[in-house]
Amino acid sequence: MILVTGGAGYIGSHVCIALLDAGLDVVVVDNLSNSTKASLDRVQSICGRSLVFRHADIRDEEVICEILRDFGVTAVIHLAGLKAVGDSNVRPMTYYENNVLGTMRLVSAMKTANVKTLVFSSSATVYGIPRYLPLDERHPLAPTNPYGRTKLVIEQMLNDLYRSDDSWRIANLRYFNPAGAHESGLIGEDPLGVPSNLLPFVAQVAIGRREKLRIWGGDYDTPDGTGIRDFIHVVDLAAGHLSALRQLRQPGLLTVNLGTGYGNSVLDVVRTFEAASGRSVPYEIVERRAGDVAACYADPTFAKDVLSWTSTRSLRQMCADHWRWQLQNPNGFRAGELPKAPERSSHLRRHA
Ligand code: UD1
Repeated sequence: MILVTGGAGYIGSHVCIALLDAGLDVVVVDNLSNSTKASLDRVQSICGRSLVFRHADIRDEEVICEILRDFGVTAVIHLAGLKAVGDSNVRPMTYYENNVLGTMRLVSAMKTANVKTLVFSSSATVYGIPRYLPLDERHPLAPTNPYGRTKLVIEQMLNDLYRSDDSWRIANLRYFNPAGAHESGLIGEDPLGVPSNLLPFVAQVAIGRREKLRIWGGDYDTPDGTGIRDFIHVVDLAAGHLSALRQLRQPGLLTVNLGTGYGNSVLDVVRTFEAASGRSVPYEIVERRAGDVAACYADPTFAKDVLSWTSTRSLRQMCADHWRWQLQNPNGFRAGELPKAPERSSHLRRHA
């Protein structure tokens, strides 16, 4: 049985599918602070298998310990946490409490229950401003905001834990920019309020929920002047967790980038989304957003070598899948009714 913390969220729900499709049993712990249980109903409908859900907070050590024991959990995929950069500047202590203290309590419960396999959801944001590209795992670590610093503190804490007891099996996965949705269109990213990330905003403009995209900066030192990022399909990202779990059959500590190795500009995303959706995405180029960098993309070599994992889905597919989710669920999970799960394609089974 695998415990997925934050399993009802955007990445978590896709990770649950990867696990269930691989024949693993799943228990999800989520405090639903930024997610809904409806995502898990849909996960079960997609997979034709059930999972266990516990509405709990990772800071509640006793409850987590009970769950680990009651369900015979053998490994934890830890995604629960707060993740908005701007918000982390406004209320840093809430980020430290949820992310750092939450992970400390989780690890403590794991120690008590003697569960020593942990896959941690880190972020490429730990690198800060790139000194060179592509970013490999040896790049210096200098996050530029409280959110990024909580991720780095947790990585360092887990490194120290492993150094003190090398029977732990730990993977720190540094995500680049997750995008897209499950190909069924049943689950996807459902941000509360105004989306701060690019793809959800573009999708809401395409469907007419918002008037136009504001592109933050058209004067970067990039071919078209807009920012460049490494967008990775969330289903590829989810598969990376399964690869990490397989690699952790032996004790060890791994810190790995999960990215594609390719950079796409904001304008590339706009044009690809327009092509995939057949809708227009009006935009206006405005001032740069504070804290943004010109370009950021991964060197994915280590992931390939150590996890035998690479991303396979294109930007076109991310946009097509994101659009399907948006079109079928214009108001995200709040729409209520559970749409019928479509036939599975062989494409997805290959990645399960
Ligand atoms: C952001 C976070 C990063 C986090 C990641 C998770 C910041 C500074 N960084 O990365 O720490 O790990 O999300 O997904 O917030 N853009 C627009 N208009 C918009 C939205 C975005 O032009 O309305 C541009 C941005 O300027 C950037 C690109 O699109 O060039 C991607 O932005 P975003 O999706 O917010 O991701 P990051 O900033 O790379």
